[in-house]
Amino acid sequence: MLNIGVLISGSGSNLQSLIDACALDDFPVNIKVVICNKHDAYGIQRAKDAGIETVCISHKDYSDREAFDRQMHHVLEDREVEFVCLAGFMRLLSPWFAQQWHNKMVNIHPSLLPSFKGINAQQQALDYGVKIAGCTLHFVRSEMDTGPIILQAAVEVKSDDTFETLRDRILEQEHRIYVQGLKMIASGQVKVDGDQLVYQ
Ligand code: GRF
Repeated sequence: MLNIGVLISGSGSNLQSLIDACALDDFPVNIKVVICNKHDAYGIQRAKDAGIETVCISHKDYSDREAFDRQMHHVLEDREVEFVCLAGFMRLLSPWFAQQWHNKMVNIHPSLLPSFKGINAQQQALDYGVKIAGCTLHFVRSEMDTGPIILQAAVEVKSDDTFETLRDRILEQEHRIYVQGLKMIASGQVKVDGDQLVYQ
């Protein structure tokens, strides 16, 4: 079993897909703790409903980014977390935190990276007029939305798509590839060597 910590800021639908997967016999992952930086995030309720410990750490209580990250790190270590999953965690991470969890932390992003990094990636795709959007599961490096790519899924952009319709179709794919990619990692099917993915 791979013991993970999940970091969230919002609705937590990706967290929910991981919770649901963990209930299956053939998913070798255990969610030890959910850390959230927003006390009113719906994701906290999802974790509680599943009987998972939640810890709220408000970034506003810390003087700088690294101090906040060190507190998260302390909680993760204390709960014997081995691997970190970012799931809609809307804070930039300090280089220190990225180094602590180098090759032991993944993120889901709603675009086909390296296109459309940062916030509102779905709107960026619509504004650009791309015909294929999508999502990316990747290992985390300190530069935002970079790192070795584990899985991607393409989503066709329809002419009548709004931010909401495109976001929701991409989300369905996020949930799918997050579960699939994490299973590959937890079962040792894929590893990172330097910045290259190695398949066993
Ligand atoms: C997702 O689109 C994720 O890719 C992005 O933030 C959103 C979080 O959604 N980083 P949820 O909280 O998992 O529902």
